[in-house]
Amino acid sequence: MICHLYPMISFSDIGHRLGGPSGIQELMDDCGAALTMHPDMRMLGGGQPAAIPQAQKLWRQRIADMLADGGIDKVLLNYDPPGGNPLFREAMAGFLHRECGWEVTRENIAVMPSSQSACFLLYNLLAGDTAGKKRRVLFPLLPEYIGYANQALCEGQFTACLPNITDTAPHEIKYHVDFDRLKLDSSIAAMAVSCPTNPTGNVLTANEFETLHALGKAQGIPLIVDHAYGHPFPGVIHNGFQPHWQPGMIFSISMSKVGLPGVRNSVVVADAPIVKALSNMNAITALSNGNLGQAILLPLLADDTLIRLGRETIRPFYRDRSDHAKSLLTAALGENIPWALHAQEGAFFLWLWIKGLPIPAAELYRRLKARKVLIIPGHYFAFGLEQTWQHPNECVRLTYSQPMHIVQEGLEIIAEEIRRLF
Ligand SMILES: Cc1ncc(COP(=O)(O)O)c(C=O)c1O
Repeated sequence: MICHLYPMISFSDIGHRLGGPSGIQELMDDCGAALTMHPDMRMLGGGQPAAIPQAQKLWRQRIADMLADGGIDKVLLNYDPPGGNPLFREAMAGFLHRECGWEVTRENIAVMPSSQSACFLLYNLLAGDTAGKKRRVLFPLLPEYIGYANQALCEGQFTACLPNITDTAPHEIKYHVDFDRLKLDSSIAAMAVSCPTNPTGNVLTANEFETLHALGKAQGIPLIVDHAYGHPFPGVIHNGFQPHWQPGMIFSISMSKVGLPGVRNSVVVADAPIVKALSNMNAITALSNGNLGQAILLPLLADDTLIRLGRETIRPFYRDRSDHAKSLLTAALGENIPWALHAQEGAFFLWLWIKGLPIPAAELYRRLKARKVLIIPGHYFAFGLEQTWQHPNECVRLTYSQPMHIVQEGLEIIAEEIRRLF
């Protein structure tokens, strides 16, 4: 294939898959530009965590401690082994054992350069062209995280299931796994779900989680759960659900949503052979991980400061934000428009469904961007499908982590634009 920018250079098939435009690239470009070059843009788009003073104070204190005791020199100077700093892996395993009751040792812990890259490596470790056959990752509950959509290195490597949509209250819906639609054949290499789900804030019910696990176990395939916003930290799950890791499962835990996206560090909890394979892949693609996040968090894992930060500060912060954003939007949209929000069970987003939206959500995104409000149109969160699905074209994802006056202005402009359409 020919690269359009440099007609003499041709990109490989994988080069085209990864080097072309994508939803996640558009989101990150928009988000980064809004937070650096265009401060007048109201950023209700990306998954940026909020600036929470208590969390920021803690990170500053840790960095001051490392400067004072000279620990910073070692952190900046050394390459770690590709699976992560052994002391950090030990501390993380101890923390997960103590806090969550998971039977893990450091052999079950892989430090990765981010959850984003951990998922990329996992999906391509487990699925794709395999001994002459195509093996696939199944996403059992759409809508699902935009960041996975372009991570497959092979055509047809992802497949997904449409949800059951239930009305849970006036102007409120919830997505459920449709087990009648969920068919596991021998081509399925793994199932993957984010919980709480980005973009909807959905949290699997205990029954859904157990059933997915049982189906995966019967088939001999792993259930991958991406806990970027959830258990054990930052713990932004409002109904108390705490999924339990067991052998055969793969859990991904991010350091970003506690307020450290800048350190680019995450952790995968898995059986030892998966951990070893990921660490080997990490050596090839990244040599090793950034050390800073591990160094900041290490003592905070040991004395439970991190878990308390989630429980006592971060989760209540987002609960308040979420309730406030919902009440602003409810007032601004009024009763004459057929709208519904997904039940607010976790994460940092409002997922808004405008039933019968007269234009595609992608066009609404363009109109709002022209009015200096960033949102994410819903169609990016539907992938792996063979049939067309109109529903996400009537949905948008809105983030409420930016300062409240920005969120308020943004929500009012969004509601005004939608009211105009009806
Ligand atoms: C569900 C989900 N997984 C993974 C990521 C990426 O996290 P990280 O910053 O660790 O790469 C995000 C970021 O928004 C996310 O929402």
